[in-house]
Amino acid sequence: MNILAIETSCDETAAAVLDENKLLSDVVYSQLAIHQSYGGVVPELASRAHLQTIIPTIDEALHKAKIRRQQLDGIAVTYGPGLVGALLVGVNVAKALAFANRIPLLGVNHLEGHIFANRLDHPQLEPPMITLLISGGHTMLILVENWGKYRILGQTIDDAAGEAFDKVAKMLTLAYPGGPVIDEYAVKGDVNFVRFPRALNKKDNFNFSFSGLKTAVLNYIESKPEQFVRQHIYDICAGFQMAVADVLIDKTSSLAKKYQLEQVTLAGGVARNEFIRHQFSVRAGEEGYSIYFPSPNFCTDNAAMIGKAGLFHLQNGECSSFDLDAIPNLNLKAID
Ligand code: KG4
Ligand code: ZN
Repeated sequence: MNILAIETSCDETAAAVLDENKLLSDVVYSQLAIHQSYGGVVPELASRAHLQTIIPTIDEALHKAKIRRQQLDGIAVTYGPGLVGALLVGVNVAKALAFANRIPLLGVNHLEGHIFANRLDHPQLEPPMITLLISGGHTMLILVENWGKYRILGQTIDDAAGEAFDKVAKMLTLAYPGGPVIDEYAVKGDVNFVRFPRALNKKDNFNFSFSGLKTAVLNYIESKPEQFVRQHIYDICAGFQMAVADVLIDKTSSLAKKYQLEQVTLAGGVARNEFIRHQFSVRAGEEGYSIYFPSPNFCTDNAAMIGKAGLFHLQNGECSSFDLDAIPNLNLKAID
């Protein structure tokens, strides 16, 4: 079964081709150069850039996979959550291709795509497991009882983890997106130089809050002379990153213990963070659970993960109708 997957939920135009056993191609066109000078994603510019690049991106993915359009057996496309104008580009192209080729169309939830990203690198991985999804828009602790069966056990009550990285980077006048820059800067800093607060750090509270941490960093920066901040920028990044890592790891580890689960997977852009990956590996060893991360390119947005989730549902005989619409605030379908 050859699947074409399309992802256009935010600022990456992505297409991938895969079959049951193998990822045949994976193309990601990042719009970073378009948005960077604005310090964030500009929705209108994102939609326009998707329009211009979607067809060449799909053609490149098919070419690299050595698959012709006529050889496709299904199309998977992200239909939410994300920016509505951006999602609409992918959804409509997917519909047109599915209709023209008379093959099934499947709308994929972007969050489920992130959960499936680990399956690209770890094909043997099977639930039950806990997935910590940490991206630019979401921070969630998900009990994956089975593929397609999710229970949300905790989530952020304000900012997402990636959003906190981006906002703190902005306060420090660092480039957008902030995550990769803080990751790089923090390595050179002292994690003990400044201690920022860890929110909701109580037993059995599996929700997250990052807005207090963001304010604490802002207050700290404003209370110091500019030169001091410049001089200690690596230390401030290290202190902030440590505070984020601590809450993510403490809550995930205690949840794994509570549910006696031996597998934890990370997903989403923040899962690229070297320090968080390392600290998680150390703690997993101490607490006796196995930790899995997607390779860095499958943490941030890509179409391969959408294809992996799509393949699972298509193989289950599911498909979407041609009135599939973009749903910007789509939730992860959870069981109670
Ligand atoms: O999953 P993703 O590509 O898009 C969403 O679905 O939101 O995640 C993007 C987020 C951004 O907030 C970015 O700053 C963060 O992931 N990010 C990182 C790193 N690389 C990307 N955060 C921390 N460390 C990184 N190395
Ligand atoms: Zn994402």
